[in-house]
Amino acid sequence: MREFATFEERLSDWTTDAMKSVFGLEGSEVHLGVSPTNNDKFGDYQCNAAMVLSKQLKKAPRQIAQEFVDAAVLPDFVEKIDIAGPGFINFFLSDSALAEHVQLLENDPRLGVKQEGQGKTVIIDYSSPNVAKSMHIGHIRSTVIGNAIDRLYRFLGYHVIADNHLGDWGTQFGLMLVGYREFVNEEALAQAPVEELERIYVASYNKSKEDDSWRDLAKAELVKLQQGDAENRALWEKFIELSIGEFNTIYDRLGVKFDLYRGESFYNDRLPEIIGQLEAKGLAAESEGALIVDLEEDKMPICIVRKSDGGYNYATTDLATVESRIEEFDPERIIYVTDERQQLHFKQFFKISEKLGMEANLVHVWFGLMRLPEATFSTREGNVIKLAALLDEAESRALEMVKSSSPDMPPEQQKDLATAIGIGAIKYTDLSQNPQSLVTFTWEKALNMQGNSAPYLQYAYARISSVYDKFHAQYPDIDLSECSINVEHEIERKLAIKLSRFPAAVSAAAENYSPNILAEYLYDLAQVYSSFYQNVPFLKAEEGVRESRIRLCRSTAATLKQGLDLLGIETRERI
Ligand code: ARG
Repeated sequence: MREFATFEERLSDWTTDAMKSVFGLEGSEVHLGVSPTNNDKFGDYQCNAAMVLSKQLKKAPRQIAQEFVDAAVLPDFVEKIDIAGPGFINFFLSDSALAEHVQLLENDPRLGVKQEGQGKTVIIDYSSPNVAKSMHIGHIRSTVIGNAIDRLYRFLGYHVIADNHLGDWGTQFGLMLVGYREFVNEEALAQAPVEELERIYVASYNKSKEDDSWRDLAKAELVKLQQGDAENRALWEKFIELSIGEFNTIYDRLGVKFDLYRGESFYNDRLPEIIGQLEAKGLAAESEGALIVDLEEDKMPICIVRKSDGGYNYATTDLATVESRIEEFDPERIIYVTDERQQLHFKQFFKISEKLGMEANLVHVWFGLMRLPEATFSTREGNVIKLAALLDEAESRALEMVKSSSPDMPPEQQKDLATAIGIGAIKYTDLSQNPQSLVTFTWEKALNMQGNSAPYLQYAYARISSVYDKFHAQYPDIDLSECSINVEHEIERKLAIKLSRFPAAVSAAAENYSPNILAEYLYDLAQVYSSFYQNVPFLKAEEGVRESRIRLCRSTAATLKQGLDLLGIETRERI
């Protein structure tokens, strides 16, 4: 497939070369970037090269800019350049080059997004809930944000391995084993397995507080499990299977798929050997019976890698996991998505893995917890929001909306649409804000048809598609791909510029692990489109102009659809 450069890339290459030749810098290493402007006054792109080179050239930025503007021979896709402020150089693209570029994008199924990750493997460790426990809000956000990052990297051509690092090991299984034998209600277990497993755990835990012999029994059963006792292992596997089964029904509803479900237990056999490595490198020390890694010189608290009872810790498992992932997959990067409370844990084991010489690029993408104002959820119980109930509520609220906006739609279709809108609304609320900022969830915002929300974008997409359908019905013989795009009207130009920036938005969202960059782009695009739609005639425009506008329209629809898909949000043609 033919890949083409964005204006950003073409302009920065050109500026770099032209600066070098105007100022005789041929041998130097500089690469000068340009960035998109938000104000037409400053052209379409802007560059701060004059500031960057000021020191080297011993001249004031404004003078450099002036000399550059006077001397440079413009490439054919640039109409003019001028200077702003202290020495910014503004670039104005030529209308014909812009039109031609957007036409190329529109003909490309990838909308101009390059496969920049080809040949590289990225492991994304996300969702990763704990067996026999309900997913909390942190796991939900990890699932939604992690999945968007997963989709972005896949689209950029990376070989992505989505790995669900389940918490399936630990001392709690001793209490689970004895608790199950004593307290299980098989009927409840069949109906809502995770809830029942959680209830069993709590009952067993409470009993252990009052009854020492119960605690000893739990310990003994845990040791048996660790030693491979067949009966305990079978029961433990049952807990895992039941939990994964329930998690999967949620993942299905969210359109999330994992390549691997490797829980912590998968790495058990490696743990003693990790300790061995730490000892051999002189990194581990005994402290009150436990084995610790002192991270004082790295300005972090000590990290316990083996407890005084001989059990291993979370960090030890994560170190073994890194080692195993490197051996098996040779990833270019491993991305972990969890809530902010785990920052120290990740910093510590990243540092220790570096000290152990594990060569991997490890990235922790953390997010703040979402604020759920009281009374937001009728499904709230204590601090745990039952995710399934939350999704149910989103769908039923969306169904009410659909019923009133499309009363004539067949009920089946209304339901299908409500699913797309309800799930989309939940995801978009999460994805449209910087992951690290505090998100306050309200139904009004999530389902606001007029504001920055999934339904707003989904409706925009459907309306745009219907314009194209109308055109097709009226002019069935016109092949749009044969018609050219022109950008004569100011608003056409604005839309074309916006469309041409899709690849940059996708790359920036992936590079910064910030799906909100893409969400923001899509919202802007929908708004520019809406003023395009309000300001110029489409179907009633004269021949030629009409086809050009319909192509811009089709291109906007394709970009919205692709962009929303990268956020894991579904679209429908008919709303
Ligand atoms: N199971 C952990 C939790 O619920 C999250 C695991 C994240 N991944 C990792 N490799 N540590 O908090």
